[in-house]
Amino acid sequence: MTKIIAVISQKGGSGKTTALLNLAVAAHRDGRAVLVVDLDPQASATLWHRARADKTLVVQPTHPAGIANLLKVAQEQGVELVFIDTAAQTDSNAAEAVEVADLVLITCRPSVMDLRAIPNSIRLCRIRDRKPHVVLTQIETQGTLQDEARRTLASLGVDVLDGGLGRRAAFHHSIIDGRSAAEYEPSGKAAQEVRRLYQTVCQLVGLPSSHRVTKEGTR
Ligand SMILES: Nc1ncnc2c1ncn2[C@@H]1O[C@H](COP(=O)(O)OP(=O)(O)OP(=O)(O)O)[C@@H](O)[C@H]1O
Ligand SMILES: [Mg+2]
Repeated sequence: MTKIIAVISQKGGSGKTTALLNLAVAAHRDGRAVLVVDLDPQASATLWHRARADKTLVVQPTHPAGIANLLKVAQEQGVELVFIDTAAQTDSNAAEAVEVADLVLITCRPSVMDLRAIPNSIRLCRIRDRKPHVVLTQIETQGTLQDEARRTLASLGVDVLDGGLGRRAAFHHSIIDGRSAAEYEPSGKAAQEVRRLYQTVCQLVGLPSSHRVTKEGTR
């Protein structure tokens, strides 16, 4: 059964593509059949893939009208996880992704501007009967911004995942040549944060959090 994860946010630059690509690589390296669907006309995920040496992880650009067919083919081919990257601002684009998703992640920096945009994303999900989860991104490792953001989000009644992604050079640098943070710096903090997020995402979609352990019994 294919599980579909949509990553949305109304704010540009909130870290949608970075979070999504890191999760997709984590799933791929975990031995799962993964497809990344790039709905963003800016094509950031597609360009990342073009720069990537290892093409075994597939990134497919499409437009909203093409999603249904792509998902049908993915299902037939036994794809386990589909990650859909969306554009900021354009409701129709994100709405299509939310419509088909089993899990919606909203990326959000702990900043006033991002927080103010969250109610719009929540609304987009609720009218489609989806319960979104917020992933905090680009979290400053010092200071209280994260705590304040978590309080604000709690007051909006939205679920915020534990952990999140810090503002780390590995996220920024790895994207340039088509890698993930874990491929760039395997024992770094960014890699650790992605592992944790990946495990949470697996739990939320009802998949065992380490595919290799259950499938191969090797680790
Ligand atoms: N956790 C992070 N740490 C450091 N830099 C980050 C992190 N997440 C994202 N960035 C950087 O912030 C910028 C925006 O990130 P990204 O492209 O993932 O956001 P986006 O929400 O997909 O943007 P858009 O709305 O344009 O699609 C990029 O330069 C990226 O390298
Ligand atoms: Mg993007």
